[in-house]
Order: sequence, then structure tokens, then C-alpha cells
Amino acid sequence: MSNHDSSYQPTTRIGKWFDERLPIMRLMHGQFVDFPTPRNLNYMWTFGGILMFCLVAQLVTGIVLAMHYQASADDAFNAIDQIRRNVNYGWMIQAMHAVGASMFFVAVYAHIFRGLYYGSYKAPREILWILGVFIFLAMMATAFMGYALPWGQMSFWGVTVITNLFSSLDQIIPGVGTAIVQWLWGGYSVSGTTLNRFFSLHYLLPFVIVGLVVLHVWALHVTGQNNPAGLDIKTKSDSVPMYPYAVAKDAVGMFAFLLLFAWFVFYLPDYLGHSDNFNPANPLVTPPHIVPEWYFLPFYAMLRAIPDKLGGVIVMFASIAILAFAPWLDTARVRSAKYRPIFKWFFWLFVIACCALGYLGAMPAEEPYVTWARIFTAYYFAFFLVIMPVVGIIETPKPLPRSIAEDVLGAGAHGGGKGAGAAAAASPEKR
Ligand code: HEM
Repeated sequence: MSNHDSSYQPTTRIGKWFDERLPIMRLMHGQFVDFPTPRNLNYMWTFGGILMFCLVAQLVTGIVLAMHYQASADDAFNAIDQIRRNVNYGWMIQAMHAVGASMFFVAVYAHIFRGLYYGSYKAPREILWILGVFIFLAMMATAFMGYALPWGQMSFWGVTVITNLFSSLDQIIPGVGTAIVQWLWGGYSVSGTTLNRFFSLHYLLPFVIVGLVVLHVWALHVTGQNNPAGLDIKTKSDSVPMYPYAVAKDAVGMFAFLLLFAWFVFYLPDYLGHSDNFNPANPLVTPPHIVPEWYFLPFYAMLRAIPDKLGGVIVMFASIAILAFAPWLDTARVRSAKYRPIFKWFFWLFVIACCALGYLGAMPAEEPYVTWARIFTAYYFAFFLVIMPVVGIIETPKPLPRSIAEDVLGAGAHGGGKGAGAAAAASPEKR
């Protein structure tokens, strides 16, 4: 962790005794209380804390659900019904977990786009970013396996379609793909055996995510946070202690997020799901349109945009893997898109492309949707492989503020100016 001086002073004798033997309170205080936080952070920086909340909420509600769930093909569907109707507050816990998965992805997408806009992936935060990509992958695997557990029609057919993708490896070595699929299924078709192992892994993976998040936050505290100006902290006036300043701002962001979360839980608990999943899994009836949950739709659109099965699978996985290379693909000298007049436009086009792919993933795989999906898939990859390297070279960035303090307080931050800005910079309370 970063080795800035901790102001921790144990106030009790037992606190002092403990601190000399295991300085965990000192560590927590140094990292989460007086940790220097850039003073210009905006609300997009509250999503990291929101994600932590989502992770804990999913763990707690998931553990309670697991106490009442039955991972068998005969009982799983009814178990969810029992939880919703007969378990005390089961309706709320189940809704919190199902809605919570969607909210987790809302927050992670905001967090990732924030990182892409402000160049948070650029040096020295490459490892932090790559750990994030691994977290994202683990989140997707967890959500995919969790969606199988209610054992409704969409659960069953979603698992069938996605696990079947591995059979495309038969195109490289005949037989290998099929063998992998049967190994994943634990038989010759998706069955209760598959459900049971998905339940086991769905319980395990969130703890792997917890481990990855610890590393993620550790890496963050080594490099310090990026900020909207993309500048490093140089002097004391560039930062504020995390508590109370960043914590208070995080609390406001969290409250707004919780309002949205609660609105879905209490008024629209099933809105984000699919109506077909209220029918028990039936291997003999295929739903007319098999669609994944909304947060997978852009990747599903890319998968279907490619006419070849193996090609589609490669493109889909590449669309996530390519994120990890962003730190080296981006050649710009400045981090934040705020000061990048050309890149900024391409970034917003990228956001539009991702949303459009999300829409197209929900549409049937026919014209004109397929052609549009191909166009946006091409743009998705061009953003990383062409725009990031080329625009970074040809673009002249706008003049940057001299410091983080100047970004917030104006030129007065350096002592030359008058008024509120200069006064605030000098104020010891704001330091
Ligand atoms: C469970 C999921 C995650 C949790 C709990 C988490 C947590 C956090 C926290 C607490 C912060 C500091 C506050 C902030 O900057 O918002 C942070 C920063 C960061 N995260 Fe995550 N994160 C998660 C997923 C991801 C993913 C998927 C990525 C990217 C693919 C990512 C990339 C980053 C980056 C680059 C930063 C530094 C941002 C900056 O300082 O500008 N994180 N994360």
C-alpha cells in the first residue's frame, strides 16, 4: 500500500497494545481515513464504492437465498417460488439479489466508461485496470451461472446456447469442442447435474471476486487515484483526506444509487428479467427468441454478427480481452479526454456503439439488425485498434491546468489570484 504518513494515534491503552502487535487499525486508517484523495473528483468516482456495496449486498442476500434453495432440476424452480411466497422477507431478498445483479452491472459499466474517458487505465495504473478486467470477467461468469439457478425456460436455454459455444472448438481439433461441452454439462445434455455444479461455482466465484477486489484496491492505493484532470498529486493542496470529504461525496452518490435500486426492488422487481423464465425449464420446448440478460446483450450481438460460429466466439471473447490492452494501445500524452478534443468525440461514438449493440442483441438475428451489428462491432474494435493509437499521435491536447488545485480553484490556486478560490486553497480546513 502507499506509504504516506498515517496520522493514526490509538486513544486507548488496549488500542495502543493492539497497534504494537497488529497495526491493522493503522493500516485501515491510513488507507481509508486520511488517504490523500484528489480534490477534484466528480461523481463518476463514487462508483468504486457503490460497486463494493453491490458486492457485499450480493454476498449477503445470496447466502440467505442459498439457505432455502434446492439445486436440483426437479425442485429449483419451485424453490424460488417458495422463497418468494413463504420465506420471511424472501420476496425482498430474492428481488434484492436479482435486481442487485443488474445494478451491479449498471455500476460496473459506469466505472469502466469512466476509466476509459479519463484515461484511468494509463500508466501507472495498468495492473489496476487489468485486475478490473479480470473482475469483470468473473462477474460475467458469476451472473451467467446465477441466471441458470431459477431453472426457468430462459435459464435452461441460455445455458444450452452459451455452453454449446465451446463446441465451435471442433472446427480447430475435431471432437475437442464436443468433449469440453459434455464435460461442462456433466452428461450429454444440460441437466440437473449441470445445475448443481453451476450452483457450486456461483457460490464460489464471488469470493474469488472479493480476492480480486482486494488486489484492485491495493493497486489503487499504491498509484493513488486518477482524477478528471488526469494530473498527478504534486503538492498537499492537490488533495483532501478521504474522510470526511470523499466519503461524504460517496455517500451522496450511494444514496442516489440506492433510491434507484429500491425503486426496482419494491415496484418493478421482475422488470429486468424475462417473462419466459416464469415457465419451468423444458428441454422439449425451445423459446422463440433466446436472449440473455440485458448486460450481456452487446456481447451477444457481436457473437451473432459473425457468420462463422468459431469466429463469433473469438470476436466475443476478444471484445473483453482487448480492454486489457488499452494502456498500450492508447498513445496519447495526456490522460483525460476532457483535454482531448478529437478523442472525446470518438469516445461518445463508442458509448453509442455499445448501446446500439445492446439493442441489436435483443433483436432477432435477421436483417437489417445483423448488418448494423456488424457495423458497430467493427467500430468497437476500431476504437481500440485504430482510434486509440492514431488519435493519440495526431491530436493536439488542450492546455492542462498546472495542478489539480488549479483545476478546481482556478489560477488563484497558485497564490496569484484573489477571491474564493485563493481563499479556499489557503484555508487549513480545506487541506
Ligand atoms: C466488483 C467490481 C469492482 C469494484 C468493487 C471496484 C472497486 C474500485 C474502487 C473502490 C475504486 C476507487 C474509487 C473509484 O475510483 O471509483 C476503483 C477504481 C478503479 N477501478 Fe474498480 N472496481 C471494480 C471493477 C472494476 C472494473 C471491471 C474495472 C475495469 C475494467 C475497474 C477499473 C478501475 C480503475 C481503472 C480504477 C482507478 C480509477 C481512477 O483512479 O481514476 N474496476 N475500483
